[in-house]
Amino acid sequence: MEAPNLYAVDAADRLILDTAADTLAGAGSGEVAVIGDAYGALTLGVAAQHGLAGIRVHQDLITGEAALAANAKTLGLTDRYTAHELDADLLGGARVVLMRLPRMLSGVGEIAEAIARHAADDVVVFAGGRDKYLTPAMNEVLAESFGCVRAGRGRQKSRVLMVSEPLPVGESRFPVREHVIEIDGDVVAFGAAFSGSRLDIGTRFLLEHMDRMKPSARDAVDLGCGTGILAVALAKSRPHIRVVGTDQSAAAVASARATAAANGVADRVTVVRDDAMSSAADNSADLVLCNPPFHVGAAVHTGSAIKMFVETGRVLRPGGELWTVYNSHLNYRGVVERMVGHTDVIGRNQKFTVTRSVRGLRDVQR
Ligand SMILES: C[S@@+](CC[C@H](N)C(=O)[O-])C[C@H]1O[C@@H](n2cnc3c(N)ncnc32)[C@H](O)[C@@H]1O
Repeated sequence: MEAPNLYAVDAADRLILDTAADTLAGAGSGEVAVIGDAYGALTLGVAAQHGLAGIRVHQDLITGEAALAANAKTLGLTDRYTAHELDADLLGGARVVLMRLPRMLSGVGEIAEAIARHAADDVVVFAGGRDKYLTPAMNEVLAESFGCVRAGRGRQKSRVLMVSEPLPVGESRFPVREHVIEIDGDVVAFGAAFSGSRLDIGTRFLLEHMDRMKPSARDAVDLGCGTGILAVALAKSRPHIRVVGTDQSAAAVASARATAAANGVADRVTVVRDDAMSSAADNSADLVLCNPPFHVGAAVHTGSAIKMFVETGRVLRPGGELWTVYNSHLNYRGVVERMVGHTDVIGRNQKFTVTRSVRGLRDVQR
């Protein structure tokens, strides 16, 4: 996504690169890993400033992967890095790790555990972010996996934690698995998945309306599926429906697949990592369920949600329905009416609004 108020590099990226400069100067090719690079500034900074290759990269978001690839191409640096899961291939023998701290503590914990498990004993981690999204609890979570966690001096409202001395790690704490009464089953969550293994309160409100959601639907989409709660609830309540869950987050996709398997519906719930649902065919779904995001990374920005609604207009068959829930102050009703079709407010509580939009026969405005 491009927008005037979105930038591909920020002060935290620069501070991480500057703080790590001396350590990177002593690192060899194949010894550096980068985690959570938003658009490629860290990876490409390591490649360009230090002439390093063999940089191993993990990005949870498919959009981040696409941005890094595009920026690397522009700079002629595509051969300097490889993309990996959060695993031994990414971290085995790594001596320097640069990372952006994810907002969710469970995401921090999962990454810390993976580094401590796989990286070299002398690994040094430079973990940074914007002050407003860092909390003291992050230091504590890092200290569960490392003997030394030191905060550097802040600069331009950003900060870097220097982390070293990995501790012995036992059995992995991830994914977590919890019973959720509302779906009468377990939810499985990897560290970075939205809401962890709990049911989000907006999602709960949307679930209350499930019986009314286009009863004749055969093909449904859980758009931005997170741990797959909506997809699994729908598949469990309707034995003949097929559901595709899509999410841009690798952690979400892995969680949704595991949640579907845990509930015995993996044969009818397919999960794909996708930006919105760009890989879905036009006119291919009867029902779309969506609890849209209202954050892009850390910034409040409704662009992602609007992109999802535009895609919904394309993918729904005429007569197909979009059911969505949103924080009432966002007032998406006009947007879904324009992007999808006639929209009714079906439910409203103190915080959230649930709407149903029906895709009309007319051409949908894109
Ligand atoms: C509010 S959460 C809802 C998750 C899940 N459906 C639930 O109800 O618990 C929104 C989800 O949308 C995903 N998301 C955000 N932007 C996206 C995009 N452009 N394409 C696909 N998924 C996206 C996020 O990763 C997140 O899992």
